[in-house]
Amino acid sequence: LDLACGRGQIIISLDENLSAEARANIDYWAYDIDQTYAKETRKCAEGLGFGSFDIKVGDLSDFHRILPASVVFDFITLTNTVHEVDTGQLAGLFVNCIVRLSDSGMLFVYDIERITPAELGALPWSRDDVRHMMRRMLDAFGASAYRPELGRWKHRNSDGWHVLLERQNLHVSQADLSAMVDGAIQNTHDEILKVLRRRLVECRNYLDNLTQYGARTAEEQQDKERLLFEFWAISRALERAT
Ligand SMILES: C[S@@+](CC[C@H](N)C(=O)[O-])C[C@H]1O[C@@H](n2cnc3c(N)ncnc32)[C@H](O)[C@@H]1O
Repeated sequence: LDLACGRGQIIISLDENLSAEARANIDYWAYDIDQTYAKETRKCAEGLGFGSFDIKVGDLSDFHRILPASVVFDFITLTNTVHEVDTGQLAGLFVNCIVRLSDSGMLFVYDIERITPAELGALPWSRDDVRHMMRRMLDAFGASAYRPELGRWKHRNSDGWHVLLERQNLHVSQADLSAMVDGAIQNTHDEILKVLRRRLVECRNYLDNLTQYGARTAEEQQDKERLLFEFWAISRALERAT
């Protein structure tokens, strides 16, 4: 399941990475809010010889209601998108991804830590922020012994992070997992707000310092602009999510 598939960027080069036999074994699902992107992804999927494919359009907060309840996924991806997700929807999105994994399924999430050029309202998360969210969610699922590593990707403009969550490492039955969904969403959401409040204080202190002493270097000048975007994005997210 390619969540927030965009134009099908993940599958576009799959014919160079997987054999025709391997591609024929894939039942590909894709999901995005944008009709035009969904059409592009469909076109791309048509040419790849998948066993089957299905592209659905909808908001991420509804994906688990829109995709047939009987379908579980061996691999769910959510790439380059977390910074666009409404803060109030993020916990539900992560938790529902876990719920829709098959017994040996995996969730792969990747995003960058800074958006360049900055976008008003976009809220990128650092690897440490995401680590806090994942830990709290796993604790809420009773899987405190499971601590997946978060990877770092070095890029020219911004570092990226990824996390790979393996369903079997939760050691929780599907029935127990389903019973814990509401609590897991609430706990993860609380952690997200905690992270945001801490970031707001840090951002405010840094901006306060820049207001008093000015930006003395080119780097501080860049920071000033980035932090102003960040201040707006966090304040707006907290207002909408609490
Ligand atoms: C930057 S693109 C990433 C595309 C692709 N996953 C990739 O890695 O290149 C973000 C995608 O998320 C989709 N998106 C953003 N918010 C969404 C939402 N609330 N529901 C569904 N899709 C959303 C956008 O339409 C866009 O296609």
